[in-house]
Amino acid sequence: MLKFFIKVVTRVFSTNLFAKLLFDVDCSKSNVKYQIGFSTILMKKALKKYVKNNDKVLDIGTGSIAIHSIWLKKKLNVDVVATEINGNYIENAKKVMKHNKVKFKIIKNDLFKGLEKNFDWVIFNPPFRDREDIGSYELVERFLKEAPKNLKLMIVVNAAYVNQKKIGNIIKSSNYGINDVITAFLSPSKVYIIRRD
Ligand SMILES: C[S@@+](CC[C@H](N)C(=O)[O-])C[C@H]1O[C@@H](n2cnc3c(N)ncnc32)[C@H](O)[C@@H]1O
Repeated sequence: MLKFFIKVVTRVFSTNLFAKLLFDVDCSKSNVKYQIGFSTILMKKALKKYVKNNDKVLDIGTGSIAIHSIWLKKKLNVDVVATEINGNYIENAKKVMKHNKVKFKIIKNDLFKGLEKNFDWVIFNPPFRDREDIGSYELVERFLKEAPKNLKLMIVVNAAYVNQKKIGNIIKSSNYGINDVITAFLSPSKVYIIRRD
């Protein structure tokens, strides 16, 4: 029942109307299907609370419309670098970025490989399909292991698709501490604000 509710709401939010209303992002030129789910929306609350003007943000797995990076560029004077592993998403995200009249780097990359290390924040909404999605838990483990020291990280996960206890344990066993957890009324998602202890 909960998953059905989440799917219906996600379907409604994943439209140009809501991309514009919630993020001021015009996706009318997008050729690729995109998802604006509870986690995408909750991440904005965390960005609003923590990212300040002149911060440098790395948006890992920016998705097909680079929604958080475009929002950050429009709303705050921040330096953004966005990465994606999916080549089609990158091409589409570049098109959407141009159409929204903002400019930042969008690069094909696997997590932190070969990137500079001087970011203030790294944001990541890992691609969980369900609570048994071993590959995505491993991706989160690798994300924490490969993150350069001293960076502050935001990881958002949806409790309906992710075992929160397992995520908490992965964070704790990787020498990171949870500084804050961002939640919202009726949202099944949580943003973990973490940094190395
Ligand atoms: C759940 S989507 C998040 C999209 C967008 N950031 C959002 O919050 O709505 C996860 C994204 O991570 C990308 N991804 C998966 N593995 C990755 C990796 N190793 N390095 C970079 N991006 C990756 C996927 O292609 C997908 O676009």
